[in-house]
Amino acid sequence: MIYEPREDSFLLQEQVRKFATGRVLDVGTGSGLQALAALEKTDDVEACDINLEAVEYVKSKGVKAYQSDLFEKVKGKFDLIVFNPPYLPLDEAEDEESRIVTTGGKKGHEIIERFLKEAKSYLKENGIILIVFSSLSGDVFKVLEEQNYGYEKLSEKKIFFESLYICKLRYGRDLVF
Ligand SMILES: C[S@@+](CC[C@H](N)C(=O)[O-])C[C@H]1O[C@@H](n2cnc3c(N)ncnc32)[C@H](O)[C@@H]1O
Repeated sequence: MIYEPREDSFLLQEQVRKFATGRVLDVGTGSGLQALAALEKTDDVEACDINLEAVEYVKSKGVKAYQSDLFEKVKGKFDLIVFNPPYLPLDEAEDEESRIVTTGGKKGHEIIERFLKEAKSYLKENGIILIVFSSLSGDVFKVLEEQNYGYEKLSEKKIFFESLYICKLRYGRDLVF
């Protein structure tokens, strides 16, 4: 199952178009929307996803893509890392395949926390991260502080019962910049 781009994807895509420069990595690429937006600004873009079907699809669109559980197979450092993660809390009624694209863990932010712990080693000195999460994901702002990321909220949108946040992150900088 490949995630069909939704509101979260399009909000993130707007920012990718503004910030893509140098070497870019799109983690959890899905349909490849973010990688393709980055390719409008720079030639040096790669994408990964845990789902082989998504990887094959994105490769067919001309993007350098490979299968990886977060950074497992990623090499080198990036000017921009983009992640639209599965960020919702576990819903026992949801099937396994759909959970991979939507569910971030029991509370919602577990995969984001794992991503943040690993991502710091893959950022160039002035590198940034663009990430999406939801008011349903648990306290991601607290996780950002615990993991020593500075953040700027670039956009926020209310949809139905949740708010979506698009944030720009830097590692080891002042907490709000
Ligand atoms: C919400 S979708 C986002 C898709 C696309 N980037 C977008 O913006 O529309 C989340 C993506 O993360 C992928 N994913 C889930 N767990 C992952 C993991 N551990 N490592 C890499 N990708 C993962 C899913 O397969 C899915 O394609």
